[in-house]
Amino acid sequence: MRILILGHKGMLGSDLMLRLAQAHEVTGRDVDAFDIASEGDCRRVVQECAPQTVINAAAYTNVDGCETDRDACFAVNAAGVKNVALACRGRGITLVHFSTDYIFAGRKGSDYDEEDPPAPLNVYGASKLEGERHLRDLADDYLLIRTAWLYGRHGKNFVQTILRKAAEVERLEVVDDQVGSPTYSRHLAAAVELLIAGPHRGVFHVTNSGSCSWCEFARTILAYAGLDGVAVMPIDSGKLARAAARPGRSVLSGAKYAAATGQQMPPWQEALREYLAETGVIPRS
Ligand SMILES: NC(=O)c1ccc[n+]([C@@H]2O[C@H](COP(=O)([O-])OP(=O)(O)OC[C@H]3O[C@@H](n4cnc5c(N)ncnc54)[C@H](OP(=O)(O)O)[C@@H]3O)[C@@H](O)[C@H]2O)c1
Repeated sequence: MRILILGHKGMLGSDLMLRLAQAHEVTGRDVDAFDIASEGDCRRVVQECAPQTVINAAAYTNVDGCETDRDACFAVNAAGVKNVALACRGRGITLVHFSTDYIFAGRKGSDYDEEDPPAPLNVYGASKLEGERHLRDLADDYLLIRTAWLYGRHGKNFVQTILRKAAEVERLEVVDDQVGSPTYSRHLAAAVELLIAGPHRGVFHVTNSGSCSWCEFARTILAYAGLDGVAVMPIDSGKLARAAARPGRSVLSGAKYAAATGQQMPPWQEALREYLAETGVIPRS
């Protein structure tokens, strides 16, 4: 398959490049080569690469930054998707795009499935939801993958931040009132490969399985890394006073993905161990 990955230097894009290049003809374009907010740029890169599949991993992902930079956020996460969908239209291209658990309000009390009504609490979530709508309205053929709480080897992430802070202080405060599914971008890239290899279309929720709070995630990172001397204290989100509100419990159900592919995503704890081993924090087993 000839595949064009947009945002191929980002955290997920990098893992998609590594994974898909093993079996496909893959090209990437990132912000240094085109601006997704420009309809002309999107047409140009799609024409240049003549792909059968376009995977859009380009996004404005600074959730708090989106609150003060609303126009730039919507230009990339909403208009950008429209531009890519229009560039692919009528060319027999399948468009794969990513969205987020932050399109949900987090008050359902159980896992969100693909048909649950969205109600974003912040600008980032609203921009990603508008991107979803453009995809549905304009793409001939699409796969929309909602994921959550990503970390990976090619980008700043929560695991790295906790390990860095643990080297500096003996006590960390981490929010305990947001629950989700930490997801290793390398595992997500493998799931994308599986989905695009089959006839799967429409919306899928894909995260590592299981869930935890950020506080539990931080404690597990430190326990696996052998940094037991650092205390992790639970706090409420209000204490952090971050610009963007976040959902309380935004766990995405993986049932549709499992039924379609016959595969379960690995548990988040197993994914974390793999990531720590691959980044040299713990020995490979
Ligand atoms: N990270 C998460 O926790 C998370 C959770 C749920 C869903 N998602 C979704 O998963 C996808 C991948 O996320 P990620 O964390 O891998 O993102 P990322 O690391 O921020 O990568 C996004 C890439 O897009 C590029 N980009 C930004 N603005 C652009 C523009 N105007 N034109 C072209 N490229 C542009 C970025 O360049 P710069 O770095 O130079 O800006 C970066 O290389 C996104 O759709 C995101 O919304 C992420």
